[in-house]
Amino acid sequence: MKTYGILLFPSHNRVYAHASVHLAQSELLVVGDALLDGRIGSVRETVLGGVPYLTFEVDGDLTESDIGALSNLSSLYALFEIEDGRLAPLELTRLDRFGSDLITIQKYAGKTNEDFTKLLLNVTAMACDDPRRLLTGDLRVLDPLCGRGTTLNQAVMYGFDAAGVERDTKSFDAYANFLRQWMKNSRLKHRAEITRVRRDRKTLGRRFHAELGEDKERYKRGEAIEVTVINADTAASDAFFGPASFDLIVTDAPYGVQHGATARTEVSRSPMPLLTAALPAWARLLRPGGAIGIAWNTHVARRSELAELLADHGFEVADSEPHHGFRHRVDQAIVRDLVVARLAATGRDR
Ligand SMILES: C[S@@+](CC[C@H](N)C(=O)[O-])C[C@H]1O[C@@H](n2cnc3c(N)ncnc32)[C@H](O)[C@@H]1O
Repeated sequence: MKTYGILLFPSHNRVYAHASVHLAQSELLVVGDALLDGRIGSVRETVLGGVPYLTFEVDGDLTESDIGALSNLSSLYALFEIEDGRLAPLELTRLDRFGSDLITIQKYAGKTNEDFTKLLLNVTAMACDDPRRLLTGDLRVLDPLCGRGTTLNQAVMYGFDAAGVERDTKSFDAYANFLRQWMKNSRLKHRAEITRVRRDRKTLGRRFHAELGEDKERYKRGEAIEVTVINADTAASDAFFGPASFDLIVTDAPYGVQHGATARTEVSRSPMPLLTAALPAWARLLRPGGAIGIAWNTHVARRSELAELLADHGFEVADSEPHHGFRHRVDQAIVRDLVVARLAATGRDR
């Protein structure tokens, strides 16, 4: 047995109030189960030199591929091997393809915290039939309630193709403008356009499509990352993309609270009607074996309601102990949780 320690981003105490260690622990265990054959144990908070670490034991050494898997944990700042009370830093292999400004520049009311979005994407990827593809960069991700694109940006950061659907025109325009400006400022080879999607002489919605190259060579070789956002109602998502065209659906459901200038007072609107209307279309867009991850406000819907709805649409909900360890308080009106599920090979209602 060897002992390792993770130094967590200190900022996570602010993001997750007092739940940062708990969330990091759950993410570590979910990733450990999926990518390290469950060899991780004795996960706990340990104070070393007055600083808290998340320490754990591993059966055998951490291999290069194990370190690759752990390097992308959403709250990991640094990773150490611990021997006789001494910390030896391990070289991280992060998937990040671009500068952190891609994720952090945009600030607006209603933005899903970017670190939580990374956690949700990671945990969802672990639920699909081939979680290792998180590390090889060939997953296609859909956020069918994409707002101004936090999930899309995290997917692009990992080098994945990303697509989104958003009903709010202002958010759609704001994201298109942001991505264009960011690609320009980052001097990336790219092209981008907004078109109307028409069928039977009717406009179904607007479509923003961008292709960007991590570098000139990859762009020339046709290895561009694609980002597509549709301005339409999410219940009609399957009018815009082909069946089974995504590996992951990752989304943060509306919280049923008011964002913006006024205080968040009203806690009433459940996301269940929206999810009930949209899930048939979402399930058609996901390939069998692909996974869905939904974050929601537990004040307005129960886990059991979401789990039941997912099961009704052919999903197998991930239900291990660590999967129940992500609930955390965001503010007075929001206690957030997440649920992930894999689409069975023969999903019902598809
Ligand atoms: C919690 S927010 C997602 C925020 C996003 N993750 C971000 O960081 O920008 C939920 C989003 O769902 C959108 N939405 C709600 N109902 C919708 C519908 N029927 N179709 C498409 N989008 C919808 C809202 O406009 C809102 O942007």
